[in-house]
Amino acid sequence: MADSDRGRLSVASVDVAVGQEAAFLALARAFEAMIAKKAYGHADTIRDEAQPLRFYAVRHWTDAAAAQACHADPEIQALTAQLFQIARVTHVVNGVRRPDPKRLLVDSQRVGSEADRRVGFERRSKNLGRNAGDRRVHRDRRLGPRRLRDRPGDVDLIGAARRARENADAAFSNFKVGAALEAADGTVFTGCNVENASYGLTICAERVAMFKALSDGHRAFTRIAIVADTPAPTPPCGACRQILWEFGGNLEIQLANLSEDKGTYRLKDLLPLPFDARLL
Ligand code: THU
Repeated sequence: MADSDRGRLSVASVDVAVGQEAAFLALARAFEAMIAKKAYGHADTIRDEAQPLRFYAVRHWTDAAAAQACHADPEIQALTAQLFQIARVTHVVNGVRRPDPKRLLVDSQRVGSEADRRVGFERRSKNLGRNAGDRRVHRDRRLGPRRLRDRPGDVDLIGAARRARENADAAFSNFKVGAALEAADGTVFTGCNVENASYGLTICAERVAMFKALSDGHRAFTRIAIVADTPAPTPPCGACRQILWEFGGNLEIQLANLSEDKGTYRLKDLLPLPFDARLL
């Protein structure tokens, strides 16, 4: 094998439409089996832990010729056509084809979308002290390809919170909680509660999700889902309401247990007379 043929790798991010996860996973298995059977290489499908319904399709090609043969293969093309019906596919690493000028344009737009998060920060700084609690950013203000890929409201936020709950470290209370917070650009941050032998150091799922988002530069949020294994909904504790209010404003709050949705609330209704920076 020529050196230039070694280590050829393609990666695509795949954003699956709501309700199509099972169909996507079946297709992913079909891709993996066909790529192995025809000795094009091997394929893996990796779930993005932080983004519900986002996967990475990884292809390790045997060599460049195998990659090209795979792209030209009618059976593979038929699977690809099915995939396009249920998912948005964005090539992230292309180890085989020459760079496509249009794709480079998308990449430079992606840089723009990162900048948009900072706009969110500046906007929030300007908004400090304003009266309305609702800091939600209008959808149209968002820039770049994320607008297409991560339409807020389209992701299964409760599913993400349920998965995050599985990581809870609740050795003392045995009460596991999961949260999934949606930023205004559609990015989802999950959190679980993490307890400590020094009980007061315990942190709730909601604050973990919020602090993850803040530390990644996000300053505008739309919704949070909170999941616990209780028949009645588990609303956020007082400390979390305060943090969510200060950084998220009048968020939509979705409560659920492991099997059912338990209702949607507004933070303002759960924290009717809030203390915040306006009063300082
Ligand atoms: N907990 C949360 O994670 N979120 C809530 O909204 C309520 C309480 C956690 C904290 C602690 O680890 C356990 O649940 C019992 O209070």
